[in-house]
Amino acid sequence: MTQALLPFEAPPRRGGNTTTFVDNMRLPVHRWFRYSAGFSAQWARAVLADSGARRVLDPFGGSGTTVIAAEQSSVSGMGVDVHPFVSRIAKAKLAWRADPDILLERARAVTLEVQRARRVEGPSSPLIAKCFPDTAALEELLRVRDAVETLRAGDAYDELLWLAFVSIIRACSPAGTAQWQYVLPNKTKSRVLEPRAAFESRVRLFADDMWAMQDHLAAPGGQVFEADARTLDGVSDGWADLILTSPPYANNFDYADATRLEQSFLGEINGWGDLGPLRKMLLKSATQHMGRWDPAEALDSPLVEPIRQELFEVYSRLADVKRAKAGNKAYDLMIAGYFFDSAQVWHALRRASAPGVKVCYVVGDSAPYGVHVPVERWLGDLAVAAGFKTWNFEKVRDRNTKWKNRKHDHPLHEGRLWIEG
Ligand SMILES: C[S@@+](CC[C@H](N)C(=O)[O-])C[C@H]1O[C@@H](n2cnc3c(N)ncnc32)[C@H](O)[C@@H]1O
Repeated sequence: MTQALLPFEAPPRRGGNTTTFVDNMRLPVHRWFRYSAGFSAQWARAVLADSGARRVLDPFGGSGTTVIAAEQSSVSGMGVDVHPFVSRIAKAKLAWRADPDILLERARAVTLEVQRARRVEGPSSPLIAKCFPDTAALEELLRVRDAVETLRAGDAYDELLWLAFVSIIRACSPAGTAQWQYVLPNKTKSRVLEPRAAFESRVRLFADDMWAMQDHLAAPGGQVFEADARTLDGVSDGWADLILTSPPYANNFDYADATRLEQSFLGEINGWGDLGPLRKMLLKSATQHMGRWDPAEALDSPLVEPIRQELFEVYSRLADVKRAKAGNKAYDLMIAGYFFDSAQVWHALRRASAPGVKVCYVVGDSAPYGVHVPVERWLGDLAVAAGFKTWNFEKVRDRNTKWKNRKHDHPLHEGRLWIEG
């Protein structure tokens, strides 16, 4: 199946490094927030075209790449993410159908309010103090935040202005950012933006993208909402004929910590300690998500039956290394929790998908403490146990092949787990 290209688009990409968000920074709407955990929208469009799907579900929808790619491909899209901040980004992007002239007018009111306002109440978070040593710049950024909040009118433009604000926070700080989204306050970057100008230019970019998209797309809009992939509440039985997603990897990346700077700035949290409730909601994929969780819940569960023996062996080896390292990282719990949660996701996906569904899961394997975990094989076996028919793995690239700074030397890879049935 071929699709018409929008005039500003490169053709859908089938091969190559499709597991990265970088290319999306040139694409309208996708580029409104740099969510490094995202995957390539052009590749998502190629999968949509090749599959001939009519209804695509992304159970780990993140910043909305799949749903927006679906809108651009005239496919019904539904994305869920349990992280409220990330889900709000995706919802705001879906407002690209709003009127760009009204957005610009509303943004002008925000800048006038920024100039008028004087005193601002800053968050007391130590992270903010570290990331914004220049108090004048910090104050101006806070005035943008407050003006956006004060001028809320209860409509889609509120969300677009909110996104314009949250998407400039990092660019206005001299602090470095890691390849992923953690903040490195002790590193600096060379180009730092001035808050009001950055906000205005962001809104102009949004408006330009909205005009471009609206000129060429008339397809009905997709849906995004907050939900847990382990239950998929709100998704009707048998809805999806394609599932296209990238779950958290079992690699200790903490999605709660990834947005700590933005959430601190919004006053939603005051520091690391406030991330607890969010961590409890996430699929277990980092040691910080484990708390006092009892691994027996996973190891004794019928849900992990097809991999129980191997899972137990890996769990025990990780527990041994942890003991030898005197109470270091709880990778044993993390791996048990990851596959227990993933088994629940497969059951939820089975319920929410039609017979004959095609699933593309972009995933990588992992080797905590050098103990290799055959992620794709275990996920494939759990999917079949949940009622899907077949799985196969298509490797896309090697990871961690440079051993420098690595605590282990196990080669890892990343690719697509294709499941059918
Ligand atoms: C690899 S990212 C997906 C990024 C997405 N493909 C994009 O392009 O923006 C994985 C996402 O899973 C979400 N997540 C973690 N636990 C979840 C859960 N239990 N249910 C739903 N989403 C979850 C995280 O918040 C994160 O946004």
